[in-house]
Amino acid sequence: MIFKNLKIGNKNLQNRISVSPMCQYSANDGKPSAWHYKHLGSLVCSGASMVVVESTAVSKVGRITNQDLCLYNLKHLRELKKLVKYLKNLNNIPIIIQLSHSGKKGSSYVPWIKSNSSLKKNNWTTISSSKIKKDEFWPYPKAANKKEINQILYDFKRSAFFAKRAGFDGIEIHMAHGYLIHQFLSPISNIRKDDYGGSISNRNALPISIVRKLKKITGKKMILGARVTASDHLEKGIKLKESLNFIKLLKKEGVNYVCISSGGIKTKTKLNTKKKGIRVSFAKNIKKEISNLVIGTTGNLSDLKYLERVMRNKCIDLAFIGRPFLKNPNWLLSHAHKNGELKFIPNQYLRAF
Ligand SMILES: Cc1cc2nc3c(=O)[nH]c(=O)nc-3n(C[C@H](O)[C@H](O)[C@H](O)COP(=O)(O)O)c2cc1C
Repeated sequence: MIFKNLKIGNKNLQNRISVSPMCQYSANDGKPSAWHYKHLGSLVCSGASMVVVESTAVSKVGRITNQDLCLYNLKHLRELKKLVKYLKNLNNIPIIIQLSHSGKKGSSYVPWIKSNSSLKKNNWTTISSSKIKKDEFWPYPKAANKKEINQILYDFKRSAFFAKRAGFDGIEIHMAHGYLIHQFLSPISNIRKDDYGGSISNRNALPISIVRKLKKITGKKMILGARVTASDHLEKGIKLKESLNFIKLLKKEGVNYVCISSGGIKTKTKLNTKKKGIRVSFAKNIKKEISNLVIGTTGNLSDLKYLERVMRNKCIDLAFIGRPFLKNPNWLLSHAHKNGELKFIPNQYLRAF
């Protein structure tokens, strides 16, 4: 199953493993650096059928750190266009950009400088759905007013338009991991009393408006995906039933795939991150209920015997794999070539396999 084609929108993936988006905190003024060429260059030649580029900020206030990749001005667009052209020359597989707004996760230190900490210098006031701290030692964000909500919508739209012009094959909207859209979706972080808070449909309102705007830009030619949270792993948080209904709405709006994730609205939750296939059971339940939508998941999926079973049991269509590709960008090539499952080995490297 793993090495069978998979159609997403009008694109044909050669197998069912995609590189998961991974922040590199290595941009210069929001623009990709030499590191991105090295990092993504090896990933497009890794044997994965699709690469999702790291969380990329739709606005300055929507960055996590001062070193985030961004796509909100023409300089970002020009440099990302060059990067996409370079990657496509190496290997022409679908390249998706993950668009995000960090909300109250923003104004942070780069994690290897200080993990899970808000900036003390060169910081900025973050915005969120409600004036609730991310965690104990974090500052209060500002609750977005109507004008700021319209600005968020505009920012996603502008970045999506730029992503199309840069030559990306698709866009993944980051709706999980405690980012701004998740902050609107979750009752833990959203206690608004207006049209964007309170009932489930009000909490869904901004995310769905963003999807609607982006679908107009991606149309039929580009892939539109979303990383969603199946559960907050907290008593009062999002539960599977709620996320299932939300994903049905995403499908109705024309989203082509979802990657089922979970957790992140608070630092400490009940999620056991060590477990194999951490979110497979969520994905399985969602796939059972929703047909004609590509369902993926992420988290500890690189045991390929296990992954094969998971796919044969119709739990997921697509695996988003992250850390194994950082540790060894050739792990999939080595495995699959040995077993005759993957034909793609760069000619220049054939003698090594
Ligand atoms: C260095 C690093 C950066 C990450 N950055 C992002 C990101 O930009 N967007 C996102 O949705 N997930 C991000 N993640 C989560 C990964 O995409 C992936 O879901 C997670 O690592 C679980 O998959 P794995 O067990 O295969 O690594 C990041 C993970 C790592 C290790």
